[in-house]
Formats: sequence, structure tokens, C-alpha cells
Amino acid sequence: MTINIIDIAYTRLKTPDVAAATDFATRILGLEPVDRAVDRLSFRSDSRMSTMSYEIGDPSETIVGFELANGEDLLNAAKTLEALGYEVCYGSHEEREQRHVSEFIAFRDPSGGRIEFAVSPQIGGNGAQLSRDAGITGFSHVGLFSRDPDRDEHFWTQICNARVSDRVGELPLLRLSQIHHSIALVPADRCGIQHINHQVQSIDDVQRSYALLSQHKVPIVFGPGRHPTSGARFVYFEGPDGMVFEYSVGVREVDEETYRERQFGFEPKSFCMWGATPKIKELST
Ligand SMILES: [Fe+2]
Repeated sequence: MTINIIDIAYTRLKTPDVAAATDFATRILGLEPVDRAVDRLSFRSDSRMSTMSYEIGDPSETIVGFELANGEDLLNAAKTLEALGYEVCYGSHEEREQRHVSEFIAFRDPSGGRIEFAVSPQIGGNGAQLSRDAGITGFSHVGLFSRDPDRDEHFWTQICNARVSDRVGELPLLRLSQIHHSIALVPADRCGIQHINHQVQSIDDVQRSYALLSQHKVPIVFGPGRHPTSGARFVYFEGPDGMVFEYSVGVREVDEETYRERQFGFEPKSFCMWGATPKIKELST
């Protein structure tokens, strides 16, 4: 039975320095801190109560959470994964509270990265109160490192309900809804999150953040530029522990009836139609 994912829901990151990561997430990235604890902190970027978090630990141990429709879908997902040999565990009461979800299961994707499927991410009564005027409208997608993009694409599109929107070389961009992509599978000799995207309101927000990031000497690793695949205008930059973050605006929406996946060459102009070259190892051609 296909696992029906509704949307991407959250990321959870680990760091040896929660204070420094918190400073970055608020003062630079602009998210709203919630659930402040000594060794852990959650952040809001949109109407949901937690779309990102930092806790003390090894930065290579990342988590991506996806939303399923209800408990029955979650139970079926657990059965499907277990039947395929995946080790599945259920979130504890404390873990569910930290994530602001009613239930979740955790397992490792075929490359070894931790994935969670969750039900009922809690919505706040208001939108996020951003820590700075970054124009963020919400958490939107992740890049996932993939040791074998063909195999991992099969997992996301055959076991789950993701669809291929485009491929750049062997790097598939997968959608879960009409939004061009929610997951990018980035070929690499490792697993976990490659980048975290937040959408912003306008190209002015991208440019304003580019100036602010430059002033604060945050390493800009790609852009400003425009993806020919999704049409989004973007800037990518490096946060704590080498994690890459992206702001973008204007991502294409896909008509499920008429859209056909496209193949782009693995070259700089497939990543940016304005001529920017990625300073990201896995996207270097
Ligand atoms: Fe992206």
C-alpha cells in the first residue's frame, strides 16, 4: 500500500553549540524561538508550532518529518515499512510534545537518514512572529543526501507518493503536492539533510537577506540566482555545523494532469539561469 505523504512538516538538527545555533536561527535566519530549554530549542517559520529545532548532539544526525493525514495512514505506513524490512519505532509522549504532533513513527531512509512520519502538526493561533524582517512565509523543502539517487527515488515515488518533477543529471526533484518540489535527492557519500529551504514573500526579501548575510559575513554558497527547474529565485548560505539554508520565492506550481518530468544536464546553468555557480561540493560540475 502506497504511503501517502501530505506535506513536509519539520526538520530537527543537532549541534554541539545550541547557543550559537540559536543565535543564527533567530538573528540571522529570522525564525521565532519557542519551547526554550537549556539544551534544546524549537523554531516557528509559519502557522505550525515547530518547523525546525536544535538540540545538543552530533550534527550529522538530522531528522526530517513529513505529515500523514491520520492515524490510520500512519499505522498502514508502519506496516508497509516493516513488511519491507525497515525498522520502525513510535515516538514517545515526550518526543511527540517536542514536535507538537499527535503521533509519529521514525525509521531510516535507504541512504540511512532519519525520517519521521507524523500526524496532526499543531497549528498556532497566529502566524510565526519572525525574529527579524526576513519576509519568511514558511518552511518549504529539503535537500536530502542520497548514496544512490535511483534507489532512493524508488523509495519516495514507489513506496511513497512523491512524483518526479525534474532531474538535473542524477539529482531528482520530487513533489508531494502541486509545489514543484519538496525533496531534492542530492548524490553524495553520506545521508541526512543537505539543505533547508524557507520561502520568502518577494525577490526584495532575497536581495535584502543577501545584503544582511554579506554584512554579517555569513558564507554565501550560491546565488542570488534563479533555478530554471522550479523558476524560484534564491540565495543559499551556510549556517552552523556546515548546514546549508536557502531563501527562495516564486516556486512553480505543477498541473498534475499535464505536467511531464524533464531532464536537465548536470551543469551550472541547470542550477542557475542567471549565471551564478554553486559553491556547494555536491552541486559542483
Ligand atoms: Fe532548494
